[in-house]
Amino acid sequence: MAVILVTGGAGYVGSHACKALAAAGHEPVCFDSYRTGWREAVRYGPAVEGNLLDAASVREAIARFAPAAVMHFAALSLVGESVRDPGLYWRANLTGALNLLEAMREEGVGALVFSSTAAVYGACDAALIPEDAPLRPDSPYGSCKLAIERLIADFERFHGLRAGVFRYFNVAGADPEGEIGEDHRPETHLIPIMLEAALGRRPEIVVYGDDYPTEDGTCVRDYVHASDLARAHVLGVERLLAGGEGFTANLGAGRGLSVREVIERAGEVVGRPVPHRVGPRRPGDPARLVCDPSRARQILGWRAERSDIDAILRDAWAWMRRGGYGA
Ligand code: UFG
Repeated sequence: MAVILVTGGAGYVGSHACKALAAAGHEPVCFDSYRTGWREAVRYGPAVEGNLLDAASVREAIARFAPAAVMHFAALSLVGESVRDPGLYWRANLTGALNLLEAMREEGVGALVFSSTAAVYGACDAALIPEDAPLRPDSPYGSCKLAIERLIADFERFHGLRAGVFRYFNVAGADPEGEIGEDHRPETHLIPIMLEAALGRRPEIVVYGDDYPTEDGTCVRDYVHASDLARAHVLGVERLLAGGEGFTANLGAGRGLSVREVIERAGEVVGRPVPHRVGPRRPGDPARLVCDPSRARQILGWRAERSDIDAILRDAWAWMRRGGYGA
């Protein structure tokens, strides 16, 4: 059993990681500002309210709980918002990470699992994107996640930190037991807004472009279940705690689905059509982003088990019908 500090533990991915840690016999300590996280999502261990921009608050939390490792999820994470306000993203995400790393060093915590993103690759021609693909982020969100990866690499090199970096593709779905799920307000991600449209909570969804160089003209993405992602984090932190080396690994299912295919599957799974129309492209959307997940399998023995699109949609639908948090 290890105590793990989880920044952003009340958020979407962070809360699934807390649940997976507890299920594996660890104690997740949630550190969250509740700016976008939910108090109801904190169910699997103690919580500290704090903000990474307040360096003292994270240092106090580390001193108080003496975690063996940290999982760092807390960040602003909307590509579109980052394009509109790059400074906001650089200040919050980079400063937050730096304050965390310095607090870890001061308090002698030597293991970190970091939540990075496929947005560090930007548009990429590879059919399946490996970790050594060119790093050419298209958005400030992707740029500052990449900068944090480099910051972490310097702490590894010069301070002896050991870090596992995970680059996520499109995270979706909800806890199969329905305890926690995705609840962003406002919501911008394809799967939840599509289900909101199917439920009649929004009139329709707009497909952002059908003139991409893909089979049906809509963008292709790699959707991975939040619970699969969470399990990878447990394997990653356990590797570091056992003295294993740091790593960088993609997390995705390794198969691409177009927006049209996802809309069709959703119609089947929920038993009613998703009202939609085709609109213009959204700036910054690459045509195709599909992961080569083989490194995570080699290093951690991880593979996506619940990331079949129907399973993702069923779990997301069950969660949404319950009304999310505060229902
Ligand atoms: N889409 C629509 N209409 C919508 C919303 C989305 O057609 O109303 C399309 C997008 O164009 C895209 C796909 O659905 O092709 C998925 O879009 P999301 O907004 O759900 O997700 P993104 O692919 O833009 O981004 C997500 C995460 C990022 C991460 C990226 C990596 O939000 O943090 O995946 O693949 F970097």
